[in-house]
Amino acid sequence: MSHRRLFVTAALPYANGHFHIGHIMEYIQADVWVRTQRLLGHEVHFVGADDVHGAPIMIAAEKAGKTPQQFVAEIVAGRAQYLDGFHIRFDNWHSTDAPENHALAQSIYLALKAAGLIELRTIEQFYDPVKGMFLPDRYIKGQCPHCGAPDQYGDACEACGAVYSPTELRNPTSTLSGATPELRQSQHLFFKLSDPRCVQFLEEWTSTPGRLQPEVVNKVREWFTVGDDGRVGLSDWDISRDAPYFGIEIPDAPGKYFYVWLDAPIGYLASLKNHFDKGQAASHWHPPSRTTQSFEEFIADPAVEQIHFIGKDIAYFHTLFWPAMLHFAGRKTPTHVFVHGFITVSGAKMSKSRGTGIDPLRYLKLGLNPEWLRYYLAAKLNPRVEDVDFNPDDFVARVNSDLVGKYVNIAARAAGFISKRFDGRLGAISPDGEALLDTLQSALPAVAELWAEREYGKAVREIMQLADRVNAYVDTNKPWELAKQPELQERLHDVCTTCIEAFRVLTAMLKPVLPATAERVEAFLRCAPLDFANAGQPLGAGHTIAPYQHLMQRVDAQALQALFEPPAPPNPPMVPASGGDTAAATPGGEPIAPTITIDDFAKVDLRIARIVACERVEGSTKLLRLTLDVGEGRTRNVFSGIASAYAPEQLVGKLTVLVANLAPRKMKFGLSEGMVLAASHADGAAHPGLYILEPHPGAEPGMRVR
Ligand code: 2FM
Ligand code: ZN
Repeated sequence: MSHRRLFVTAALPYANGHFHIGHIMEYIQADVWVRTQRLLGHEVHFVGADDVHGAPIMIAAEKAGKTPQQFVAEIVAGRAQYLDGFHIRFDNWHSTDAPENHALAQSIYLALKAAGLIELRTIEQFYDPVKGMFLPDRYIKGQCPHCGAPDQYGDACEACGAVYSPTELRNPTSTLSGATPELRQSQHLFFKLSDPRCVQFLEEWTSTPGRLQPEVVNKVREWFTVGDDGRVGLSDWDISRDAPYFGIEIPDAPGKYFYVWLDAPIGYLASLKNHFDKGQAASHWHPPSRTTQSFEEFIADPAVEQIHFIGKDIAYFHTLFWPAMLHFAGRKTPTHVFVHGFITVSGAKMSKSRGTGIDPLRYLKLGLNPEWLRYYLAAKLNPRVEDVDFNPDDFVARVNSDLVGKYVNIAARAAGFISKRFDGRLGAISPDGEALLDTLQSALPAVAELWAEREYGKAVREIMQLADRVNAYVDTNKPWELAKQPELQERLHDVCTTCIEAFRVLTAMLKPVLPATAERVEAFLRCAPLDFANAGQPLGAGHTIAPYQHLMQRVDAQALQALFEPPAPPNPPMVPASGGDTAAATPGGEPIAPTITIDDFAKVDLRIARIVACERVEGSTKLLRLTLDVGEGRTRNVFSGIASAYAPEQLVGKLTVLVANLAPRKMKFGLSEGMVLAASHADGAAHPGLYILEPHPGAEPGMRVR
């Protein structure tokens, strides 16, 4: 197989929020692919970065009373716990505000300008007369000019995927002030995608066989509009923004900045450059004897394949703007853009900014095994642009029956006998065992190919079918019965050795998805790190393995359920290293939260509610279902995690306090329309007790608490 040189990226996340499950799914998809390529012996450089520029981050930072840099730094500091937690191994993580990105963005821009593809134009842009600033696209909402979907942002439609200018929106309003924006003039720089050279290039580039998924090619066709003259065209792209803006200054246009989407994908290159400049790139090369190259040499090598994993919502940017920018700046264009669908949870669509009901960090903190999620998502992923649904019952079933019941079970069934009866030494394998191992070994290339083709679901099914065969072999040979018959010890040794050798091949096959388990198996089998080449060679008779330690627990359905229940009170804070009066610094087990203004507080609408009904929730030990009268002429359904503290009958008829304007939350048991307030110590284990609030007599349902 020829040696591939791969530059792989996943979409750069905006640094205005923590990772949600959608990010983690994409990273797992890319990480599995990258690990596959490494196991095949290819050279891979897998990089990421924070996408830090743009108006939303600038405005969010301002609201938080921070500089954009401070604001972003806090988010960035939280990245590693997710990436490490889910075994997502980027070779480098950088930032679009790094010097490399400033330099690369400016040089790419100047190259496009030299190619005659940049034009200065006076445009009419929405201006918020209340805020006194030109309105970023994202702060204008209205109806999509293409499909008519309501409540769409000013730059792109989440319903139909169209990209447009905010002035094309119907019935626009400023989301910053609620004002109707005014049109004012401003000078902007445009990338002339309508230039026939661009159109011709993109038509060829997007239709190159094998480059894009067929459904992406179809979507791209829709984005090429046909003009009155019947000619295919694209709209020019507005790439500048007026100060104030958090971004990269345009070299020859003082006070103007690149629109965030201009410098964001360049961040892929900036992170790669940083990776090479740090001198770390060589360690990921295979064979390691290759001479060290610079970033520029590497990226100029025609053999290098540039591959981007992205979600379907940003395909437009990656299949039109990005290749055109690169091509006309004289650079390598992407070899593939692999587009995936969204993740839904029990069928509910995820919001890009709020994520879904699954918080990946909570998943980790609950002690749920990250490889369960990797396996489950892999089982559901395919190379098409299809949405993936996370279904808790399905998750439990797949992990428990496949991963534990079929795969881990093979080792569990054989290893004890090898240790106890044969001092850990493997024995000879007879022809029926050899036949089974042959089947497994000869399936290795096909399985590797399925991973490489991003046919993860098929790869998982194939591996589980092979595991079924091994288990059938165990069932036929019944080692537990062989063990009872002294004259059949040799056969017992043979059968168990076959199982261990088979387990090793299955482990290699699963290694892209289960890297941590594979490492533990390597230690257990005392073998070299598995890859797709060496997995075909058996350990051999006489090889000694270590005593078996259980490799993976089953998922406890109740533990998984906790992921969907309302978050527990915050974790107890770390005790300050310097000692000091920790009790006073952490009343109730946690420090007082950062100061907010009265305006911040006013956003929380607290109301008196009467608990008109209350019942236990079947399938949950934590939740009570409350029916609340908040004086609205209807009742609300609210789930509250207070079942440990109250019996339903203690609460019926009582008044309490409700957060009445909390976004409704779809839970496994139904919709929760608010949250009742309860007091607790931060360390619930050491200080149990949960106390709901009750107003003094006289308060009535619907009264606001202020
Ligand atoms: O949609 C997003 O989350 C963007 N931050 C993705 C950028 S990908 C690349 F272009 F940087
Ligand atoms: Zn639309």
